[in-house]
Order: sequence, then structure tokens, then C-alpha cells
Amino acid sequence: MDETRVHRWALISVKPGVGKSTSAMFLGQALVDEGVPPLVADADRGQTCATWDEGAGGMPYPVVSKVSRSLDKTLPALENGRGALLVDVPQIEDHAAIARSAMVWADRWIMPIAPSVVEVTRMFRPAYGDRVKLGDYLEEVQDLRERLGRPPADVVVLLTRTNTSRPTKGGPDARVRAAMAKQGIDTLDAQIRHHDHYRQCGNARIRAIGTPYQRAARELLARPYTAEARSAQ
Ligand SMILES: Nc1ncnc2c1ncn2[C@@H]1O[C@H](COP(=O)(O)OP(=O)(O)OP(=O)(O)O)[C@@H](O)[C@H]1O
Ligand SMILES: [Mg+2]
Repeated sequence: MDETRVHRWALISVKPGVGKSTSAMFLGQALVDEGVPPLVADADRGQTCATWDEGAGGMPYPVVSKVSRSLDKTLPALENGRGALLVDVPQIEDHAAIARSAMVWADRWIMPIAPSVVEVTRMFRPAYGDRVKLGDYLEEVQDLRERLGRPPADVVVLLTRTNTSRPTKGGPDARVRAAMAKQGIDTLDAQIRHHDHYRQCGNARIRAIGTPYQRAARELLARPYTAEARSAQ
């Protein structure tokens, strides 16, 4: 693990309600537990993370409200003294400009996804009425990063609301992993099962130790950022 770098992570999704805010808050706690001081920036007008923080009387890490289309310019000022910055990004289909500015800044794009192959297929081959084709959007932002002289962002899926805490061989989680791999996108081994434990909005004492969020945080901290380094692993 590189102790000196600041991890810049954006939680992204095409559609709302996939577990971005929950994941930002639990990963924040998991990073505290790992000794990596995090900051969560809430870029969603819905302000779930900021409201959670307020309701809880303050999380064990700072949560700041940052709704802006120039996050690439404003987030670096928050990096000082932090081991990781996590941005809770609003859904791309409605807020493409805010999301783009966060993704230009973030070196890693974490996509929480429910274990539904139909949903994954739709993201890449939109049904009638869907506004965003995920593959094109990701490519567009990677191209923008290249023009700005930034390395390609690492893209990784975090399965949420699965039936089991461990990957299965042939269940819905396994089918989504395979569908994402077809798109050239990795999925973390850690997966977050559907459980009331994660519906803790407003509770300061959330527990990440012993949960898959701890495993996810460890995987993310150990995961190389460049494709070359990953394939050499
Ligand atoms: N693993 C889980 N098990 C059970 N419920 C969950 C889990 N993860 C998230 N939820 C619940 O699902 C709902 C959506 O989660 P969350 O708010 O984190 O998603 P989001 O992607 O941030 O949504 P939005 O796009 O609306 O901001 C919330 O009610 C949350 O409590
Ligand atoms: Mg949210």
C-alpha cells in the first residue's frame, strides 16, 4: 500500500438509488478503521451524506457539502492532510456535468450495482427512454482526462444488495461479474449484501469492521490504479 498518496474516489451510477451514499459513508468508516483519514464530499443536491452527518451529530470523519460543476477545481483544496477523498456523485443521467467534473478529478470510479444482469445490459444498451449509454459516457470522460494530461481512471464495480456476503459460483452476483468483465470492467470480490444494518442513515456509530465494506476498503486500498500494474499482479 502506498502510504503517501491521496486516494481520490468517486461513487458513480447512471441511475439513482443504487447505494452510492450508503457506500460513501460505510467506506468512510472503514477507512477510519484502516487508519486512512478520509473526507466525504457530498456532491448530490439530495445531500444524503451531509444530512446523515448532521443527524448523527458528526461522523468520525468530515463530511462536506460540495454541489458544483467544477469539482475538479474545488476538490483538490480538500485533500490536504487526508488519506482519501470520497465523492458522492449524483446520478449521471440527470447530472452529467457535475458527475463529469468529479470524474475528471477522481482517479478511481466506484460503481455500486445491484445484482441484476438486465440492469447492467440496459446501462450499456439503453432501453427506450434511457438517456445515457454508460460505455460511451465513461469513454468520453476518459478522453477528457487524457486531453487534460491525466491518467485513465480505474473503474471498478461494487456489488450491493446481494443475497450473500460472499461471491457465489452461479448466482445473480456471478452473472453480473461476468457481464461487467465482458465490458472490461472489474468487480470487487467484496460484495454488500442486502441487510438492514446498512440502512443506518443518521447513526454516527455505524459499524464497518467485520462487514464486507471493510473488505471492500482493503481491496480498494491495495488495488493498483493503472491497468499495467493490475495485470502484473
Ligand atoms: N446493502 C443494503 N441493504 C439494504 N438496504 C440498502 C443497502 N444499501 C443501500 N440501501 C438502502 O437503499 C436505498 C438507496 O441507497 P443510497 O441512498 O445509498 O443510494 P444512492 O445511490 O445514493 O441513491 P440516490 O441516487 O437517490 O442518492 C436507501 O434507502 C438505503 O438505506
Ligand atoms: Mg445518494
